[in-house]
This record gives sequence, structure tokens and C-alpha cells, in this order.
Amino acid sequence: MTAELLQGCSTCTACALAYTRQMVVIARGNPNAELMLIGEAPGAREDATGLPFVGRSGQALDRLLSDVGFDLERDLYVCNAVKCRPPNNRRPKRAELAACRPWLDRQLELVDPDVIVLAGATAVEAILGIKGGMSQLRGRWQHWNQRAVMPVFHPSYLLRNPSDAPGAPLDLTRGDLSAVRRRLCER
Ligand code: URA
Ligand code: SF4
Repeated sequence: MTAELLQGCSTCTACALAYTRQMVVIARGNPNAELMLIGEAPGAREDATGLPFVGRSGQALDRLLSDVGFDLERDLYVCNAVKCRPPNNRRPKRAELAACRPWLDRQLELVDPDVIVLAGATAVEAILGIKGGMSQLRGRWQHWNQRAVMPVFHPSYLLRNPSDAPGAPLDLTRGDLSAVRRRLCER
């Protein structure tokens, strides 16, 4: 992570979330990875630690990624569409997404990933500009700025739907992440 991104984000007051956050949550993982995962926004645990996806959703996500063979430190860079926690974990507002977008664009430029995983509808809308149900969107490769993009269910949705039966959201997500891994390994 460049000093400029770190410094710029940590002192950012471009939207109202600056006034309720504890910490700005920028990224974790490897800035040189070929895969970037983008979630929605920090939750309570992320806000307290300054790291993305470290609460219950994050643990669920890490497990799935490890299950399909990713090394969490080496193989991906993890961030969110919005860097500061929305109060009570509400969805980020359009204006907040827009205000935070330059930071996400800077991260995309720095990491320059070949493949992007979009976790949940907010990330899909932010990057691909499409609104829709994740049941329809997930698991289908998309393309954006010369990059392959895979929408997947948000891990908090998986926590609310814990069945591990074949064809259940957890199983589908494992399949989607496996497809991402295959694509990266085949190159
Ligand atoms: N934690 C994050 O960092 N991002 C999310 O989207 C959800 C939980
Ligand atoms: Fe700045 Fe983004 Fe935090 Fe808003 S959410 S204050 S734009 S870093």
C-alpha cells in the first residue's frame, strides 16, 4: 500500500462517515496479488481494528477462500467499496459510494488485478453499475476494464443461510470461488 493511499484515506473527510468512524478501513492482503476482492463497507469489528473482513463475515469468507485453495496472505487483496463504517451497518448511500470512489479507483490502479471478485450487491452496483438480485448475478463472469469480474454472494448473506447442502448459497459460493481460482491457475 503506498504511503499516499494510506495517508490520504486515513485523513479523508470527503463524506459524513468520517465523523462516526473509529478507523478508516483500507485493505488487507497482498497489493501485488492478481485477485482483488471488493466488499461493501466496514462493520463494527473492522471499524475497531482498521482491517477489512475480520468480523464474522470475514471469518466465513476466509474459510471459503482457504477451502478452495487460496493463500489469504499471498493470493489476494481485500478491500471495500466504502472505507468507513456506516452507522448501524446500514448500506452505504449513493453519495458516500461516490465520495469514496477515488480511493477504490486508486487501489485498482495500484493493485492492477486481473480478476475481481465482487462480494454482494453494493460492490456489483459500484463496479459494474448493474442492480439486481445476487441469485441472478452470482457465478457469471463479467468483464470490466479488461478485467474478469465474478460476482458472489456477500458473506453476511451466507451467515444468514448456513445450510451446506448442494445447491445452497454456501455451496454455490464455494463453486464460484473455485472458478476464480481455476481461472487464475490456468493463466
Ligand atoms: N466486513 C467488511 O469489511 N466488508 C463487508 O462488506 C462486510 C464485512
Ligand atoms: Fe472518505 Fe470514504 Fe471515509 Fe467517506 S467513507 S470519509 S469518502 S474514506
